[in-house]
Amino acid sequence: MKTGKFITLEGMDGAGKSTHILTIVAMLKARGVEVVSTREPGGTQLGEKLRALLLHEPMHPETETLLMFAARREHIAIVIAPALARGAYVLSDRFTDATYAYQCGGRGVDMYKIELLEQWVQGSGVNALQPDVTLLFDVPVEVSVQRLSDARTPDKFERENAEFFHQLRSTYLTRAANDPARFRVVDANQSLERVKKLVEEIIATL
Ligand code: TYD
Repeated sequence: MKTGKFITLEGMDGAGKSTHILTIVAMLKARGVEVVSTREPGGTQLGEKLRALLLHEPMHPETETLLMFAARREHIAIVIAPALARGAYVLSDRFTDATYAYQCGGRGVDMYKIELLEQWVQGSGVNALQPDVTLLFDVPVEVSVQRLSDARTPDKFERENAEFFHQLRSTYLTRAANDPARFRVVDANQSLERVKKLVEEIIATL
């Protein structure tokens, strides 16, 4: 039984979401709730091994999709479900929306295959595991590409071309438009301070 809250953070590489995770953790902790901060792919010992492969090893897009869900299955079993069951707030840096954006939008994997895996791994119906809130950090593609070029050594996804990033962004925005009850779209193309304020306002409403 799930009693805590499941919050996910999404966006293109370079949208700055990692910067805001610490703010959210601090805000939630200040309210005295237990916070579990984690990430995908990863979050478990096995998941982090899969992450190393996923971020650096070339592979077929469907292999990539299957490994994302394999890591997710482990993550849910070992970290997410137990934390939610004991009433913690779980904050995950990416979750299944990223698979729709990157593997379906970016790589062209059939959406129905991702839906099947999502149901398998997260369940379906009223007991399905879904985020309660998803913060989507949105920036124009040019900004994302520019921020990435200023950053450290890029991984496999960060080396993709502009067309890939356009597909990511439009997939994310379409998903957000289709599920306004869950998504909060944060315009991340402004100063860090302003984005931080927006994030604080969203978290305060939870
Ligand atoms: P990211 O979360 O951006 O971490 P960092 O800030 O350290 O770069 O990196 C994870 C990468 O994995 C990112 O480029 C998106 C990709 N990814 C997918 O392609 N599909 C998924 O389902 C998930 C969770 C991530």
